[in-house]
Amino acid sequence: MKHFVKVLLQNPGTVSLALFTREILANPRAMGAACPSAPALASYMAAQVPWDREGLVLELGGGTGAVTAALLKRGLPPWKLVVVERSPTLAHHLRQRFPQLRIIQGDAAQLSQLLSHEKTKSVGSIVSSLPLRSLHPATTRAISHQFETLLDWGGSLVQFTYDLRGTRSGLLPRFRKLSSKIIWSNLPPARVEVFERKS
Ligand SMILES: C[S@@+](CC[C@H](N)C(=O)[O-])C[C@H]1O[C@@H](n2cnc3c(N)ncnc32)[C@H](O)[C@@H]1O
Repeated sequence: MKHFVKVLLQNPGTVSLALFTREILANPRAMGAACPSAPALASYMAAQVPWDREGLVLELGGGTGAVTAALLKRGLPPWKLVVVERSPTLAHHLRQRFPQLRIIQGDAAQLSQLLSHEKTKSVGSIVSSLPLRSLHPATTRAISHQFETLLDWGGSLVQFTYDLRGTRSGLLPRFRKLSSKIIWSNLPPARVEVFERKS
């Protein structure tokens, strides 16, 4: 039995799931999900990021790293990627899993401050797993304002939601929706939306 538990804990997938579950119990609204994103959802999100854009790619709500791993697998250079995660435990896990990346622990509602030490100021794309629907409305408004402030004109915002109707209209007034697709194989199914920052 001891050996079985040891083998399980050596498996990064098991560690990720255990951590994720612990965080859900501690902070269900901020986690906003029952389990980490499935590979199909993570790789679809990564594929929506335009590779040729100037500037940083910001990943928000890194969690245990499902989407982070998909972005790297797709070939995003590590120096272009900055990951922001609110939970200190998950940020610590991400730093151990991806020592080559900049992982910032903090609240996406204060993104400008969190990024003040970055040499590159331009942000070409944002990939967000933030649970905008379950966060406090004031936090969601502050995050949406940060998206508008930080993302370059014409930049892409890739966001997923478990609300299959899509992101509520009015939440992202300065963005134009470019595409929307449901990933049915995720548990539960999720809608990935791609928006462009209007000038
Ligand atoms: C739905 S989980 C997604 C995790 C991972 N990206 C995935 O797809 O499996 C949402 C993540 O957003 C983080 N989060 C929630 N509110 C946040 C905030 N205000 N700022 C930064 N991260 C936040 C949570 O801690 C959690 O890790």
